[in-house]
Formats: sequence, C-alpha cells, structure tokens
Amino acid sequence: MKRTAIYPGTFDPVTNGHIDIITRGLKLFDKIIVTILENPAKKTLFTTQKRVELLEESLKDVGNIEIAAYGGLLVDYAIKREAQAILRGMRAVSDFEYEFQMALMNRKLNREVQTVFLMTGLRWIFTSSSIIKEAVQFGGDIESMVPPVVYAELKKKYNLCPDENS
Ligand code: COA
Repeated sequence: MKRTAIYPGTFDPVTNGHIDIITRGLKLFDKIIVTILENPAKKTLFTTQKRVELLEESLKDVGNIEIAAYGGLLVDYAIKREAQAILRGMRAVSDFEYEFQMALMNRKLNREVQTVFLMTGLRWIFTSSSIIKEAVQFGGDIESMVPPVVYAELKKKYNLCPDENS
C-alpha cells in the first residue's frame, strides 16, 4: 500500500522549517501532498495562488510531492485524496496545546486519518512565517531562513529591492 500524508498549513510564506519537515517526512511516506488550507484566524500577506507558486518553485527539485490548495475541512481532503495521515511539525512545547487540540478535533471528525508529528529541526525551532515577515519588514537578514524565491518575493512585497536606476 502506498503511504500518503497531507502536510497542511497556511504557508504564508513557506519557510525552510516547512521544507525540513517535508524532506524528513518523505523518509516515512511515499508521497506528501503539501496543502494550503484556510485558517480563518489568519489574514495572509500572499494570495493562495502566489503561495502555491512559491511552494512549487521552492520544492521543484523534491520528488514524490504534490502542491494543492483546498477550501474545506482538512480531514475531508485527506479522505478525498486517500491519504492515511496528516503530517505536522512541532517546534516547541508552546506548539503542543494547539497541535494536540487540532489533532484531537481531526480525530473526532474522522478516525481513519492519523496525525503524525515530527520535531522541527533545531535550526528552525524559533522561526515562523510571521516572525520572518516582521523581521524582513524592518530590514532584518532572513535570507538563510527561507527558500531563495521566497526571499526575493518578500523583498519585493516590502519594497526592499535596490532601485536598479539609482
Ligand atoms: N518550521 C517553522 N515554522 C513552522 C513550522 C516549521 N516546521 N511549522 C509550522 N510553522 C509555523 C508556520 O509558519 C506558522 O507561522 P505563523 O503563525 O507565523 O503564520 C505557524 O507555525 C503555524 O502555522 P501552520 O502550520 O501553517 O498552521 P496553521 O495554524 O496556520 O494552519 C490549518 C492550520 C490551516 C492546518 C488548519 O487551520 C486547518 O486544518 N484548516 C482547515 C479547516 C479545518 O479542517 N479545520 C479544523 C482543524 S481542527
């Protein structure tokens, strides 16, 4: 049987911490469907289309993955795609309560889909999409924390590109 996992998130934008979970997850699963879902509590910087493009470009050299976006319940999408598992990264104890609640809710909604947690790599334990967006806005050097295409896009968004005419 082919083992498939959904790796869900907002990915606004994808960071190296997410990539780390995906590449390590591929050691456990035959295929990972990286899926942008809606977290109603979040207002995003990038459109869904742009987030899909950034994921596609960032993961273009990684095999056995698919990028998708879905507007409904995560467990419904997992069933639709015949995935056995939901893959989530856990960064620190502070993530635990939220992740625990979400995993239990997903289990309540559908017992067929299991949630699997991987510890986020130590290098990325302090990162998040929001903290990276905040740092870059004020000129912080975040180049090593995101894929090159995301770095370029963030600089563009915050008008940090050097003026070519000057
Ligand atoms: N490295 C670095 N940062 C990481 C990370 C990692 N490995 N894993 C997560 N993060 C960060 C993300 O960048 C994000 O940062 P931000 O809050 O600053 O944007 C944060 O941790 C958590 O985000 P994410 O993993 O994207 O989760 P989320 O809480 O935004 O997403 C959904 C939650 C979208 C999966 C959830 O709302 C969902 O399933 N929605 C669909 C509807 C549904 O089924 N709801 C019921 C669920 S119980």
